[in-house]
Amino acid sequence: MSGTTQKPKILVARSIFPDILERLQDIADVQSNQADQIWDPEALRQALMDKDAAIISGSEAIGAAHLKTAPNLKIISNIAVGYNNLDLAALKAAQVLATNTPDVLTDTTADFGFALLMATARRVTEAEHWLRAGHWKKFSIFDTPLAMDIHHSTLGIMGMGRIGQAIAKRAAGFSMNVMYHNRSRLSADLEEACGAHYVDRDTLLKEADHIILVMPYTPDNHHLFGEKELRLMKPTATLINIARGGIVDELALAKALQEKRIFAAGIDVFEGEPTVRPELLALSNVVLSPHIASATAKTRRAMIELAVENCLAGLAGQTPPNLIA
Ligand code: 8YV
Repeated sequence: MSGTTQKPKILVARSIFPDILERLQDIADVQSNQADQIWDPEALRQALMDKDAAIISGSEAIGAAHLKTAPNLKIISNIAVGYNNLDLAALKAAQVLATNTPDVLTDTTADFGFALLMATARRVTEAEHWLRAGHWKKFSIFDTPLAMDIHHSTLGIMGMGRIGQAIAKRAAGFSMNVMYHNRSRLSADLEEACGAHYVDRDTLLKEADHIILVMPYTPDNHHLFGEKELRLMKPTATLINIARGGIVDELALAKALQEKRIFAAGIDVFEGEPTVRPELLALSNVVLSPHIASATAKTRRAMIELAVENCLAGLAGQTPPNLIA
């Protein structure tokens, strides 16, 4: 903090629930952004120059350039579990703490992963568009959008952290055969609790009826799902991405969907979001949603509350509950 009697200066980079902002304003000198303007990197750098802390969303990238000119900065508190927007090495070098918001969004995000999987495999949005376009002239046994089953099918989960495990538990209710691939294998006890078995990546790609991506985005898995991987999938398979857009080569995916080399995809996260590639928008066998996996009122509130708690702990010189660096 800039002085012992001064309130800490905090940037709240995106709009948050007004009552939480008001509480923060009682104890801190807050620069807020209730208009929810998107930051360009230079404006963000300038806003951080005199701050002791910042509460940001996953859309604000923080790197060395932002930290060099922010001598008082103690903590960056991310309102997201993913933190691919943060340059952890630069934060460490600048001795600025970084935190995220795990746990509070696990079930909400897993619910949505399942919702997107079901909407995609059962062609829910496509069928609705078909109905709204006036194509439903009569009930038909097979001249109707025929779908893929969820129950008793094989689910392949890529990334078996908290959210992956919560998805596996939901799959048990649908009598699914659950396989997973992860950087490290779960303990036997955890595998049993999730009803999931470990396989190598190619086995998962070849054997799963539905694949869901829930791993963190790192430089190592950029475009991990490209032409080659998509060609390993069954023509009847679906691909669901609730992780990060950059994990999938979207042009290769659009081509695979267009050529019906896979059945369908459900995509909640995009490489250039909020811009969605026209190649994806043109397709009917893809369900597109605007990064809403954690977006329930209760969970978004819990995420912001946790981000504030992390921020205040860091400012007070304590170890924040969700320290990542
Ligand atoms: C966030 C997410 O809402 O937590 C994450 O990693 O992707 C979402 O829950 C989004 O990143 C906005 O901060």
